[in-house]
Amino acid sequence: MTDEVNSGRRRFLTAATSVVGAVGAVGVATPFLGSWNPSAKAKAAGAPVSADVGKIEPGRMIIAEWRGKPVYLVHRTQEQLDTLAGHNDHLLDPQSEQPQQPSYVTGIERSIKPELLVLVGLCTHLGCAPKYRPEVAPADLGEDWVGGFFCPCHGSKYDLSGRVYQGVPAPLNLEVPPYRYVSDVVIIVGEDQEQA
Ligand code: FES
Repeated sequence: MTDEVNSGRRRFLTAATSVVGAVGAVGVATPFLGSWNPSAKAKAAGAPVSADVGKIEPGRMIIAEWRGKPVYLVHRTQEQLDTLAGHNDHLLDPQSEQPQQPSYVTGIERSIKPELLVLVGLCTHLGCAPKYRPEVAPADLGEDWVGGFFCPCHGSKYDLSGRVYQGVPAPLNLEVPPYRYVSDVVIIVGEDQEQA
């Protein structure tokens, strides 16, 4: 076997590993992009991504990658969901009237099933990745903080549905990407749920 064949096989294995590892490992997967062959790179750039959301612990978040963007997948607890109705007056677009989500994602929960929040993890100000901050009243975010997402770049704040607070630089709620369930615990990001 020639060196060329060996290195071709290595490249394929690297690409395959990167695709499988895309869920939950954005920070690790990104550096591999340069070594992908063009077809794998093109495929990964636009392809829907499946994610096993059944393994996310209550209250925790994992990150998938779709079209080169981080997609936040948060398993919201009932306690977290109960906070959503309490601060509508402090939000810019509490009813999600701006088209930042597919039409089948409605209400203050902005999700198909309340317990699973799916968001594109890019701040609507200048595109930094907001941090998931589920703690209640941490010292740096103040005693009114009930959990949400905080953008470290210029201080934009979002609640646990990705709805933006008033008085911050970000002008819009975080985007909800198209997604659908293929089983109770697996979703595909990048494909729409069929309309009823
Ligand atoms: S990029 Fe998030 S606040 Fe500016």
